[in-house]
Amino acid sequence: MTRIAVLVSGGGTNLQALIDAQRHTALKQGMLAAVISSSPDAYALERARNASIPTYVVNRRDYPSNESMTHDLTELLQKLDIGLVVLAGFMYVLTGEIIRAFPNAIINVHPALIPSFCGEGAYGLHVHEQALAYGVKLSGATVHFVNEDCDGGPIILQKAVEVLDGDTPKSLQQRIMEQAEWKLLPKAVSLFCEGRLQVEGRWVKILPGL
Ligand code: GAR
Repeated sequence: MTRIAVLVSGGGTNLQALIDAQRHTALKQGMLAAVISSSPDAYALERARNASIPTYVVNRRDYPSNESMTHDLTELLQKLDIGLVVLAGFMYVLTGEIIRAFPNAIINVHPALIPSFCGEGAYGLHVHEQALAYGVKLSGATVHFVNEDCDGGPIILQKAVEVLDGDTPKSLQQRIMEQAEWKLLPKAVSLFCEGRLQVEGRWVKILPGL
């Protein structure tokens, strides 16, 4: 079994998708072992408690920089014997220490088709504001491995979602969550935990199931 830690900052609907998948045994060889929040007020913590998953807070406000927060996070993850770190609506850029400690074992869900509308400043609703301002007809979601480039790691799964006339950032966010994020993230996590993701440079090969 791969012990999974989910890092969150807010509402936690992607965490909920993972909890629901675990309930339906869809995470296969993975188990949700910890939920770690960057804020003590995140509703995601409530979702974790309701599912009896141990919760931890590494409060960004207690640290002078992302680097010092990353240091404590890395130590906590190692202490908890975590094999996969999932960033599910985690709103801070983690620095090199955690990436070196968990090579190709950190995945992130991003609410756009990378390399569009990503990088520093592209998070949460801002991503959908950028997509609407550009006028794209398709957006979507990406699940990718995390490396030292913000939103720049090898792509595991992507799904396109239509942008409709009259969309607001909120309506687009909701459609992308429902049609893409909540499906892709549990799928990518279960593939990882079954050992079916093989990284070859920038390409992630999905190995056949048994
Ligand atoms: C999700 O749309 C997620 O993709 C996005 O924030 C939202 C969190 O929602 N993440 C990023 O923008 C990271 N760059 P949730 O807390 O309900 O899962």
